[in-house]
Amino acid sequence: MRPLDRHHVVVTGSSSGIGQAIATAAARSGAECLIHYRSNREGAEATAEAIRAAGSEPRLVAADLADPRDAERLVEEAFAWSPRIDAWIHNAGADVLTGAAARLSFDAKLARLWEVDVQGTIRLARSVAARMLEAPPTPLPASMLFIGWDQAVHGMEGDAGQLFGPIKAAVMAYAKSLAQTLAPRIRVNCVAPGWIRTAWGENSDPYWDARARNDALMHRWGTPEDVAAAAMYLISPQASFITGQVIEVNGGWNRKPVAGSR
Ligand SMILES: NC(=O)c1ccc[n+]([C@@H]2O[C@H](COP(=O)([O-])OP(=O)(O)OC[C@H]3O[C@@H](n4cnc5c(N)ncnc54)[C@H](OP(=O)(O)O)[C@@H]3O)[C@@H](O)[C@H]2O)c1
Repeated sequence: MRPLDRHHVVVTGSSSGIGQAIATAAARSGAECLIHYRSNREGAEATAEAIRAAGSEPRLVAADLADPRDAERLVEEAFAWSPRIDAWIHNAGADVLTGAAARLSFDAKLARLWEVDVQGTIRLARSVAARMLEAPPTPLPASMLFIGWDQAVHGMEGDAGQLFGPIKAAVMAYAKSLAQTLAPRIRVNCVAPGWIRTAWGENSDPYWDARARNDALMHRWGTPEDVAAAAMYLISPQASFITGQVIEVNGGWNRKPVAGSR
């Protein structure tokens, strides 16, 4: 018996990075998975292959969460796939650090993050919650999981801090209020990753590479699998008494001074 046997799990933004690791880990823990993505079909197919290797056939749905009609279609397709969704993981987030979006103005990046990570996520979560509440209550509550950012509440210098700080603080604050709203029927938690080696981290310069390692007491970058492991606990029956929490997955914040900082 695996921890998520007979569970139906939706992971938004599971065509790459953290979402891909979470969907794969959920399948390896026994769950049936719905892979959501926006445009990276190849990435979504790679996630699907990993899930098939774990023994189940995933459902794939593309939707732009900035578009309310697209988001509603995702909800409809998900609940048609399974009237009971045991865990919905709100992982999708706009990438404004790599590719063409990295060249946008500060204002344009902030607007994109707002419409996807905050407004898109909140709109989706409200719709999902309404559908989850329609299902008959069960001894084990369904759950939702959000993705924040460890430095959002502490502050980080520069444009990245000024962009992701308010955006991810809003996500974490929303998760806390949603937990208050939906208890005891639905558990709501959040993971706040630190420096996780995804697309941006893979190409970071020596300064950011050293900084990411030094900021963690564990002296290494986090991996998408580190975040997925925390997510697996939070959506599992073992966490049935855990709600309204934000768990930092950052290797422990290093408060010791570091030589050679910029
Ligand atoms: N990496 C880190 O260090 C870190 C730290 C803290 C928090 N986070 C957060 O963790 C989450 C995952 O990050 P990641 O690094 O794994 O990012 P990623 O590899 O860029 O993946 C982002 C996912 O979100 C989807 N997405 C982007 N815009 C979307 C839209 N408008 N509608 C629907 N889906 C959309 C992407 O879909 P397509 O590619 O298919 O379009 C992709 O599947 C994000 O919320 C991010 O802010 C990351």
